[in-house]
Amino acid sequence: MAPILPVLSCILSCALFAFSTAAQDINGKTYEYIVVGSGPGGGPLAANLARKGHSVLLIEAGDDQTQNTNVSQWINFNAAGNDPATRWDFFVKHSDDEAREARFKHRTWRKTDGSFYVGLDPPAGAKPLGIYYPRAGTLGGCAMHNGCLTMNPDDLDWNYIADITGDDSWSPKNMRKYLIRLEKIHYNSTYTHGTTGWLDMTMLDPGYTTSADSRTLSQLATQAAGFSVTETEDLLARDMNGDQPDRDNLVGPFGGVSHIHPDGRRSSPGYYVRDTFVEGKYPLTVALDTLATKVIFDKKIKTKAIGMEYLQGKSLYSADPRHNASVKGRPGKAYASREVIISGGAFNTPQLLMLSGIGPKKHLQKFGIPVIVNAPGVGQQLADNYENGILSLAKRAVTGNSEIFPVFFKSSVGKIRDIYMWCGSFSFEGFWPGFPTNYGPNQYECALVHINPRSQAGTIELRSKDPRDVPAINLQFFKTGEKQDLQSFYEGISWVRSWLSKVPNDAESLAPFNELHPCEGPIGNQSCTEKSQKTYLKEQAYSHHASSSARIGADDDRYAVLDSSFRVRGVKGLRVVDASSFPKVPGAFPVLPTMMISEKATETLLLEIGEEY
Ligand SMILES: Cc1cc2nc3c(=O)[nH]c(=O)nc-3n(C[C@H](O)[C@H](O)[C@H](O)COP(=O)(O)OP(=O)(O)OC[C@H]3O[C@@H](n4cnc5c(N)ncnc54)[C@H](O)[C@@H]3O)c2cc1C
Ligand SMILES: *[C@@H]1O[C@H](CO)[C@@H](O)[C@H](O)[C@H]1NC(C)=O
Ligand SMILES: *[C@@H]1O[C@H](CO)[C@@H](O)[C@H](O)[C@H]1NC(C)=O
Ligand SMILES: *[C@@H]1O[C@H](CO)[C@@H](O)[C@H](O)[C@H]1NC(C)=O
Ligand SMILES: *[C@@H]1O[C@H](CO)[C@@H](O)[C@H](O)[C@H]1NC(C)=O
Repeated sequence: MAPILPVLSCILSCALFAFSTAAQDINGKTYEYIVVGSGPGGGPLAANLARKGHSVLLIEAGDDQTQNTNVSQWINFNAAGNDPATRWDFFVKHSDDEAREARFKHRTWRKTDGSFYVGLDPPAGAKPLGIYYPRAGTLGGCAMHNGCLTMNPDDLDWNYIADITGDDSWSPKNMRKYLIRLEKIHYNSTYTHGTTGWLDMTMLDPGYTTSADSRTLSQLATQAAGFSVTETEDLLARDMNGDQPDRDNLVGPFGGVSHIHPDGRRSSPGYYVRDTFVEGKYPLTVALDTLATKVIFDKKIKTKAIGMEYLQGKSLYSADPRHNASVKGRPGKAYASREVIISGGAFNTPQLLMLSGIGPKKHLQKFGIPVIVNAPGVGQQLADNYENGILSLAKRAVTGNSEIFPVFFKSSVGKIRDIYMWCGSFSFEGFWPGFPTNYGPNQYECALVHINPRSQAGTIELRSKDPRDVPAINLQFFKTGEKQDLQSFYEGISWVRSWLSKVPNDAESLAPFNELHPCEGPIGNQSCTEKSQKTYLKEQAYSHHASSSARIGADDDRYAVLDSSFRVRGVKGLRVVDASSFPKVPGAFPVLPTMMISEKATETLLLEIGEEY
């Protein structure tokens, strides 16, 4: 049977050129490095190493959708998030409390005909799946359907890693080096930035000069944040990724720096990998439609990673909506002469580690998996930014409906700024199949991301030994620190209301805004209690920034799966470089920091073999 090998297709000139690796099988071959997963963690690392002349096999479960306009045009991100060509559907829990889970308004069910039902009143026979949590199983990972918002984490976040590990290379100053290296900025900033990197960075237009409504609302937000109204336009161009002194405490409006080309094309690791491949002069092999299933360890030195087992075929992972359980895939093995790097993302990396015998001993034994390393931190202490939104309907249509502006807010319980929000005429209420709900042109929302959540108790556990099976995920929201975390949300929401209520209420006006949640009713004249709002904020919170499920930590921390150089403790030749690696969820948005650590990992790997980066 001839192997059907996945082919990377490409834009522009590529119609004329066939890819050299298209016809070559990877089975039994040896590469210097094997990288699993082409998302923000693995993609840049694989491309960087290949560009330095090292042979790399990049294994990716999904295929190449770089030309799908849902993906390539940033503005289509909601369509991309729902696109079966890229989508991986996970269903998670937020707690162990079944009654609380049942109150989640967008709980998703499988109907008897196989389709989804979303809501609180399922038809007879429907089975609860849980809370929908999207991922992208495609070349480029979740950076191919995400919102493209970036934030270099607060200095506090980088310092934390440097402090717990004693490794100064994690200092904010040094980490900034990697930001500068990877970015190609297309906006004006007074701070030092990169202009030759692989990631296009654009500052979104907040609509200040084109939309009277955007202007009015951002001016009110500016004043509510303690600035003068005349500062609004400058604040809206403030660089979120600059290195301002005391940046962790800067609040108020900022410019929305996003990984987008100014012409609206999405910029992402998927394109970087493809471009590296298409140039044709680097030793990069990209195996698409290839699901990594198990790390191969040396027969003699049982703790030395030497390769990867995999299955080849389309949609083999069962989170893929096109998955067909009777298609088992074609097994194979590839070898790494130097290292294996796992970058499957916060859900899949711990799954792959556990399938390979690295994880909590008892859990592995339950499935008859031989234990290579008892690593209690694998799949534990999963972290995520909590999210909530204050959504309302204005009295009339809001102009400038594709424009947003970000705002930082610091609550009374925040050590530093603890809420990032973005405001505009959109609705974002979390995720479910078919998200979001369009409430029409009058919709107005500030979507809040809670930075530095206090709880970090989420778990990822195997359901079976089948690598195509999805793991069981429970985010354990608000397990600890509930009081403070809800307080910051509550203050953030109340702050938004404070300025929305100042919009003059005349015939032409947007006001009054009729709030849909967390407190129903006309803004400025509502009667919800603080308690009822906090209950809403707790039970209807959502998230999509999972991290820390195989994290870095100190030598004496039994939950530290990795050391500060991304090495999996207890074995040789194996690293994890992706959102799982962060000891805590980084800042308000993980995509940029994940790309930054991908650059850092490149440097680390090269330095170890005596090369500079
Ligand atoms: C809808 C949505 C919107 C988002 N918006 C933003 C945003 O605006 N800003 C932001 O900062 N973050 C955002 N995020 C989060 C951000 O995209 C992720 O944190 C980031 O992509 C994580 O990168 P990663 O490399 O860790 O994992 P991923 O991006 O998940 O990449 C993992 C890759 O590994 C592949 N893979 C997994 N397992 C295997 C296996 N066994 N074999 C082979 N391949 C495998 C997957 O197919 C995938 O391509 C968003 C996420 C989602 C889902
Ligand atoms: C874009 O995604 C939608 C689902 O959101 C899907 O129906 C459509 O076919 C996709 N379009 C393309 C060009 O793939
Ligand atoms: C940057 O500033 C220059 C000079 O003021 C201006 O011409 C240019 O349009 C600005 N670029 C952007 C992207 O705002
Ligand atoms: C699933 O795969 C099997 C085996 O290849 C095939 O016979 C069947 O038609 C497929 N089912 C669907 C729904 O495509
Ligand atoms: C507030 O709501 C009450 C009850 O609906 C109504 O009588 C009153 O006029 C409203 N006040 C304002 C200022 O809108």
